Amino acid sequence: MKKIKIIGGKTLTGTINISGAKNSAVALIPAAILSDEYVEIDNIPNISDIDALEEILVYLNANIKREERKVTIDSSKIVNKEIPEAISKKLRASYYFMSSLLGKYKYVEMYFPGGCSIGARPIDQTLKGYRALGATVIEEGNKFTIKADELIGNKVYLDMPSVGATVNIILTAVKAKGETIIENAAKEPEIVNVATFLNNMGAKITGAGTSTIHITGVDYLGKCYTEVIPDRIEAGTYVIAGALVGKDLIIDNIIPEHIDSLLKKLEEMGSDLVVGDNYVKISKLDNGKPVNVKTLGYPGFPTDLQQPLTTLLTQLNGKSILEETIYENRFQNVQYLVDMGANIEINNRKIYIEGPTKLVAKEVVATDLRAGACLVLAGLAAEGQTIIDNVEHVLRGYENIIGKLSNVGAEIEIEEYN
Ligand code: EPU
Repeated sequence: MKKIKIIGGKTLTGTINISGAKNSAVALIPAAILSDEYVEIDNIPNISDIDALEEILVYLNANIKREERKVTIDSSKIVNKEIPEAISKKLRASYYFMSSLLGKYKYVEMYFPGGCSIGARPIDQTLKGYRALGATVIEEGNKFTIKADELIGNKVYLDMPSVGATVNIILTAVKAKGETIIENAAKEPEIVNVATFLNNMGAKITGAGTSTIHITGVDYLGKCYTEVIPDRIEAGTYVIAGALVGKDLIIDNIIPEHIDSLLKKLEEMGSDLVVGDNYVKISKLDNGKPVNVKTLGYPGFPTDLQQPLTTLLTQLNGKSILEETIYENRFQNVQYLVDMGANIEINNRKIYIEGPTKLVAKEVVATDLRAGACLVLAGLAAEGQTIIDNVEHVLRGYENIIGKLSNVGAEIEIEEYN
């Protein structure tokens, strides 16, 4: 087990460099096995979710070379075998392997994926996509056996713009016969990253980043090189840290457009942040105006920044309202913020945050990845020593969070215990 300890109240100044996006990298790695040769992926973040995917690659007999941020994956000798539940339940993205294997071999056996416990997170849209392409899905408890004599392109209309279902259907369709059209597709930048990667291998995908994606199946996918885009959620988390306790804090190596929804909210609060070509500079926001925020698919306000943002909302001057429309259980951070002195009321999918309230250090628990990020931010702003338990969740998605925050002046350390 691991705990993070933070002595709050320090001013953060200097530069934080943003790593490659978790939610891109975790899709690119399973996508890599669709290549009939080898691929190179650069700017891979050093986080535990990547280690879990590497475990699956090794299990499937892929040949992997990891040097610094670059991974080379040779899938020419992989073996299509059932991925054990103990591995698949480590993370949500494990089910991208289900689609790559199905797309490549027309047969796969796998278990329900894991992921943060923030809602039910069904996979019905992905299964609907498999069936539309001609596959039979057999469900036995947690286990799925999916097979097809042939995968044949078809039209798939998603009930909601699901990131996972969009990626899964692309992965299944790239080697199918004929054209697949995904309507009401998710538009997240991570999907564009995956489509570009597959196109570099020789796939024929157009429209990624819009709500209609066309995929024309091809027989062969070759070698290629790609880079993981910067992590917009990591970037957004540190931008929020800057608005809480920063002094000219620079969040560097980002695509500011990807966090436009956050930057616009910060401007609405009164922040005088500076937006450069690939960085944002931000200082502590004094006397910030309250805001209303509603989470939506991209380019709307990301659900993944909702919990980190809540910490900042406790410091604004008045009542903010935050509505979570994507997940039904993504407020587990709220009770801990209240314990630390916040004034927050939960009403179904909305929370009402009355600020400003002084935050005081407490012993708290990271119930999930972004709840953990929210509590790290609270610890940075609070008076005294905050101890956050269960931070394995945080390490799944934030590369070197201790080093990055220490470098800009935070008093933060991690402790391992039994
Ligand atoms: N949904 C369904 N059926 C489906 C798929 C989704 O009902 O078949 C619902 C979900 O229950 C949820 C909504 O649709 O209410 C959106 O789910 P989506 O499929 O878009 O989410 P995901 O692909 O499981 C990814 C990220 C999440 C991020 C969401 C939304 C990865 C590995 N995960 O999840 O990231 O919150 O998109 O942007 O890419 C995180 O990084 O902390 C995280 C949870």
